[in-house]
Amino acid sequence: MSDDETLHAALRTHTDYGAEGLDESEIVRDPFQQLARWLAEAAERGVYEPNAMALATIDPDGAPSIRTVLLRRLDEHGLAFYTDYGSRKGRALLAHPEVAAVFPWYLMHRQVTIAGTVERTGDADSDDYFSARPRGAQVAAWASEQSQPIAGREALESKVTDAEQQFEGAESLPRPERWGGFRIVPHRVEFWQGRTSRLHDRLVLVRERGVAGAPWSLERLQP
Ligand SMILES: Cc1cc2nc3c(=O)[nH]c(=O)nc-3n(C[C@H](O)[C@H](O)[C@H](O)COP(=O)(O)O)c2cc1C
Repeated sequence: MSDDETLHAALRTHTDYGAEGLDESEIVRDPFQQLARWLAEAAERGVYEPNAMALATIDPDGAPSIRTVLLRRLDEHGLAFYTDYGSRKGRALLAHPEVAAVFPWYLMHRQVTIAGTVERTGDADSDDYFSARPRGAQVAAWASEQSQPIAGREALESKVTDAEQQFEGAESLPRPERWGGFRIVPHRVEFWQGRTSRLHDRLVLVRERGVAGAPWSLERLQP
């Protein structure tokens, strides 16, 4: 097939999703537990980087922007990821601490979409996570001012060499102040399970915004 034909075929693909459903009787009415369950199932099924989520933010000028980050902690307080606070997303979150996110588990005909507010996880948590990262990733966090332009690859590698020299002989690297965690505190989490003939299951857990410990209620949406 030519490239054009392959592209055409890819754009016309129509997969009828599985018969496996998601029923009100089986969903845990706590989105953190339900997400943990689906994450474990995605990992078991061999989904590549099952903890990767697309994270949408609002730039200071009001425009949306999106990128992938890795979920690193999940508990009853929220979903934590780690980044450079000075990055584009970091600055966006300072201006508008609101996000939307999606875990796209196509292999399982599943997605989880999340809406929430964001807060910093705190210094102790960020130190703890930073210290568990491989040394190369720690050096990179020092060397790279994420999202800032740079003249070329060589200039970046020379910043890495500088950072390596700065910490030569040191057993562990401290965390750069501008690097750390954000916690997404969700108020809406939708569990989507693809079904046959596009009659998908969509179960949404919602709670009042900004009220810690508010109860979750469940609703089903049309596909
Ligand atoms: C699979 C995957 C995982 C990623 N995980 C992270 C992450 O956990 N933290 C992070 O800062 N960037 C991560 N990135 C890079 C981001 O997508 C993005 O390029 C970077 O954070 C800069 O985004 P920004 O300029 O919008 O702030 C990841 C990219 C991919 C493809």
